[in-house]
Amino acid sequence: MDRGERGVVMGLIRLRPRPAGASSATAAEIVDDAERIAVSEPVGEHEALHVAPATDVQAPPLVEEAPERTAPAVVAEAVSTRVIALANQKGGVAKTTTTLNVGVALREMGHRVLLVDLDPQGNLTMSQGLNPDVIERSMFDVLVHKVPISEVIEHREADLAVASIDLAGAELALSAMIGRERSLEKALVEVRGSYDYVLLDTPPSLGLLTINAFVAATGVIVPVQCEYLSLRGLVQLENTLAMVRENLNPNVGVEGIVATMFDGRTLHSREAIEILEENFGKLVYRTRIRKTVRYAEAPVKGSSVLKYDPTGAAAEAYRELARELVAAKEAEDGA
Ligand SMILES: Nc1ncnc2c1ncn2[C@@H]1O[C@H](COP(=O)(O)OP(=O)(O)OP(=O)(O)O)[C@@H](O)[C@H]1O
Ligand SMILES: [Mg+2]
Repeated sequence: MDRGERGVVMGLIRLRPRPAGASSATAAEIVDDAERIAVSEPVGEHEALHVAPATDVQAPPLVEEAPERTAPAVVAEAVSTRVIALANQKGGVAKTTTTLNVGVALREMGHRVLLVDLDPQGNLTMSQGLNPDVIERSMFDVLVHKVPISEVIEHREADLAVASIDLAGAELALSAMIGRERSLEKALVEVRGSYDYVLLDTPPSLGLLTINAFVAATGVIVPVQCEYLSLRGLVQLENTLAMVRENLNPNVGVEGIVATMFDGRTLHSREAIEILEENFGKLVYRTRIRKTVRYAEAPVKGSSVLKYDPTGAAAEAYRELARELVAAKEAEDGA
């Protein structure tokens, strides 16, 4: 990405322009080639749903639905529940790692937390020592067969609504259903009052599972990998959110961006942070999640890094992030 292209990206996302005279970034070096090739044209409003990898089932165009009435008692109870989608259509940026470890950190702070595995890969489910290949009932049954979500919740380090291999067929099955974008929102009505935080781990695509997460969410947290920062990917994500706001959930938006796999010794990482902060300002959490093998080791043991290495820096980073996201929300509510 050259400087001009970077300007296009910024114009599209309608965020603060890069200040004149700011250091010319080596963004070309840190935007990954694969994505640059995949998205060679400026991102149009309707391209947003077409960025899923070729293996993903594409969501049909969004359709407008009449708003549904929800029982007043449920609404009153659910008001304080934060439903946060962890999303980035780019793979391997630490969505699952962040969902689990922020969730467990919030749990440590005394909050009631539900984690929801919406990814057919089932990594979140696996990271709590469960095998998605042998799970009988999962989020697939919740989304497609309207099984109550309470029936697929396992009580682990935090409560976890599990994924199974079936979930790979959910987008296709949902695509034929009326109200396909609201299936998760409806399923969560049963349990929202029982939790302070519901964290949704989404797959690396902007297909129907991720759209369901955006429709059910009160906010979106976007993990971005410092090693391969993709501004264009963030624009696509924002375009999809704009469509969801227009048609399905007027209140949803990016509430924070978390820089992951940060390595302060490399120029790449430092420049990635600089670019993010210039473009997204206060949306970028101050907490940086550093690169360390601890995050890969913990799930192999079926645990969060907070349980695996409770006093280590890796665990502390996610505790700090959890405190920051609680404080950011409190500041916003008090404003
Ligand atoms: N801060 C970190 N430092 C080093 N490795 C990390 C870090 N965070 C996550 N990882 C590792 O990077 C890999 C990808 O992380 P993770 O599965 O959380 O990403 P993801 O965005 O959920 O991926 P996908 O898009 O496939 O769902 C995993 O092996 C994980 O253990
Ligand atoms: Mg994942």
